[in-house]
This record gives sequence, structure tokens and C-alpha cells, in this order.
Amino acid sequence: MNETAVITLEGVCHAYDAVVAVDDLALSVPAGEVVCLLGPSGCGKTTVLRIVAGLERLQKGRVLLNGAVAADGSHEVPPERRNVGFLFQDYALFPHLTVAENVGFGLQALAAGERKARVAEALELVVMADYAARYPHELSGGQQQRVALARSLAPKPQLVLLDEPFSGLDARMRDQVRDHTLHALKQSGAAALMVTHDAEEAMFMGDRIAVMRQGRLVQFGAPVELYCRPSDAFVAEFFGEVNHLTGTVHDKKVTTPFGELSAEGLQEGAVADILIRPEALQLGPIHEGLDPKRAVRVIAARMLGRTSLIHLCIGWPDESVLHLHARMPGRFLPPENTMLSVELDHTQAFVFPAEPPH
Ligand SMILES: Nc1ncnc2c1ncn2[C@@H]1O[C@H](COP(=O)(O)OP(=O)(O)OP(=O)(O)O)[C@@H](O)[C@H]1O
Ligand SMILES: [Mg+2]
Repeated sequence: MNETAVITLEGVCHAYDAVVAVDDLALSVPAGEVVCLLGPSGCGKTTVLRIVAGLERLQKGRVLLNGAVAADGSHEVPPERRNVGFLFQDYALFPHLTVAENVGFGLQALAAGERKARVAEALELVVMADYAARYPHELSGGQQQRVALARSLAPKPQLVLLDEPFSGLDARMRDQVRDHTLHALKQSGAAALMVTHDAEEAMFMGDRIAVMRQGRLVQFGAPVELYCRPSDAFVAEFFGEVNHLTGTVHDKKVTTPFGELSAEGLQEGAVADILIRPEALQLGPIHEGLDPKRAVRVIAARMLGRTSLIHLCIGWPDESVLHLHARMPGRFLPPENTMLSVELDHTQAFVFPAEPPH
């Protein structure tokens, strides 16, 4: 375990009566790092933050802050002594206090001069220094969110917990506030644990991402690792749409219409799930010598901004027609019924043992 980690969870379990919300979770976050907890609704993300904050009594395992025990079942450091900042989805600012007073609210213990300097510094961090004298109702939603972030950073916490902090904002505002938040967190040097159910947001914000499913940690790593080397089909699908094929393992390989893929580690004769990201299907003109069985036909093509999505079908094996999505950079809009060739980028295709039926 990393000794310099600001926060470490070891074997943490939590149940609400019969509902197991967190199941044997271990992770740690060093100073200056943003870790995102990513997973579907109900997988236990908020519960993890509540345990770290000390708002939920620890049932099993250990929570360490800077290597010292914060909770181990017999002993609990109270929330106010954990030096942890929070930013939850419903970050209510006090409506009758100015921006500066809101940010200074948790700094009552400091001398007036020091408090003023801290407030100015925190507002600087979120680029809201010009708004110190305003009241919350005089701010946009995104500005209010940034003030709430400044309020959580002002006491200089060693760890900041953020629970879906951008979900109340519209798409354009969200991008901007996310950007400010990431810069402010990085500049503050605090460790951050942020909850989201949006994989793209996790990839934008996180140095590392912890993917959770039903209370368990499924995979923990850098965004590029999770995107390019998902540990199972659940993780692969969480990070974006995939084309699903099935195949049978033969000689440590599975055959697809676009060639063979390695099925190392799977048993001979086993049924495999084959997941192919749309961007792995690279389309081009029909070329001489192409096996006609390998050609695909365009059903529809749509430009979606930075990429184009192409709906394809392929008659393979002969009797059944396979529908696929391909994604090409920029504008790529072949007319309907155009026949194209496909090259498969093997780094964006994944083979897993087929999941047993539920
Ligand atoms: N106070 C509670 N009492 C009983 N069950 C609870 C309580 N809080 C959470 N749960 C249950 O524990 C599980 C995990 O809940 P949690 O809020 O941690 O999930 P989450 O990953 O944050 O979900 P979401 O993305 O919807 O916020 C869920 O099944 C939930 O219904
Ligand atoms: Mg939650």
C-alpha cells in the first residue's frame, strides 16, 4: 500500500440492512491526484464518499488518512477532524451571505486578516475574485458551483470529495465548470475523490478511474488503460458503444468477418464475446483482390460533429446479416448502398469469455 497516500481504503464493506452497498473495496489516492469513482446508479459510489467523510460509520475494513487510522471499526475520527472538503451535487450556498462570506464560512477559527487572505486566494483559484461582494442569486448556476468549490477548498483540505458536482449544469456550462474545477484542484495540491456515472467526465477529470459495479471495484487505472485494456465487457461497454459479435475459440483465436483476433487465455471451444469499438472499423474504398464476403454495405451515414457514424451491414456468415456501427474522423458520408472495405484496428477490439446468461 502506498505510504504517502492521503486517503487509503482497505477491505471496506458496507451494508444497509440486507443491501450490500460496498463490498471489499481497496483503493488509495496520493496528494495532487484526482481519482474518479465511476459506475452505474446504485453501485455504491456515494456510500464510499460518506464512509471517507466519516458520515457513515465504518462496518468493516480500515480508512487511513495520511497513513493514520481514521476509522477501523472500533475507533472513528469525527468528520470535522478529518480535514476533508466536500462538494456535493446540491451544493447549497447561504442565500443571505455574499460570495466572500460564503467562502469564509468554514474559516471562523482564523484571525480576520488571515481569513480574508484565504477567501481571496480561494476565489482566485476558481476565477471568481471579481464577484466577492455579490449574493448567490446574482450568479449563474456555474458561478454558484465555482463558489461552492472555493468554499470547500478555502480551509485547505488535504482531500476533497466531490459527488456528481456538475450534474445540475447544462452541457455548455458543465464543460466550462469542469475545466475550472480541474485547474483549481490541481493548483490546490489536494487529493480528490470524485463520483460520476459519466465515463467521458471521468476520463476528463481523473488521473485514475476506479470502475465500480455492485459495490465492488472492477478495474482501477489510468483512463487510457481502462479504455484500451478493459478487464471485462462491462468496463469496455461503460466507456462507449461497442459492436457485439460472438465466436468460438479455436487455436487461441476467434474468427470475425474482419480477420482473426487473439483469444489468449480462453479455453479451446469456448464461446467468446467479441467487442469492437466503432472507431476500430476503418472504412475505405473497395480494392482489387478484396474477398467480396469481407465487403460491407452502407445503410446510412451521419455526421455527428467531430466524427461521422456509419451504419453498415455485412452478410457473414452467409445466412445472417450483421449490423455494425463504424466511426470515422471528420466528414465521412458515403451514399447509401456504397460497398466499402474494412480494416480492423486490433487495439480497439476485445475478446472475453461469454458471460453466462443471467
Ligand atoms: N440510507 C440508505 N438506506 C438503505 N439503503 C441505502 C441507503 N443509501 C444507499 N442505499 C442503497 O445502497 C446502494 C448504494 O447506494 P449509493 O447511494 O452508494 O449508490 P451510488 O453509486 O451513489 O448511486 P447513484 O449514482 O444513483 O447516486 C443502493 O442499492 C442504495 O439503494
Ligand atoms: Mg450517488
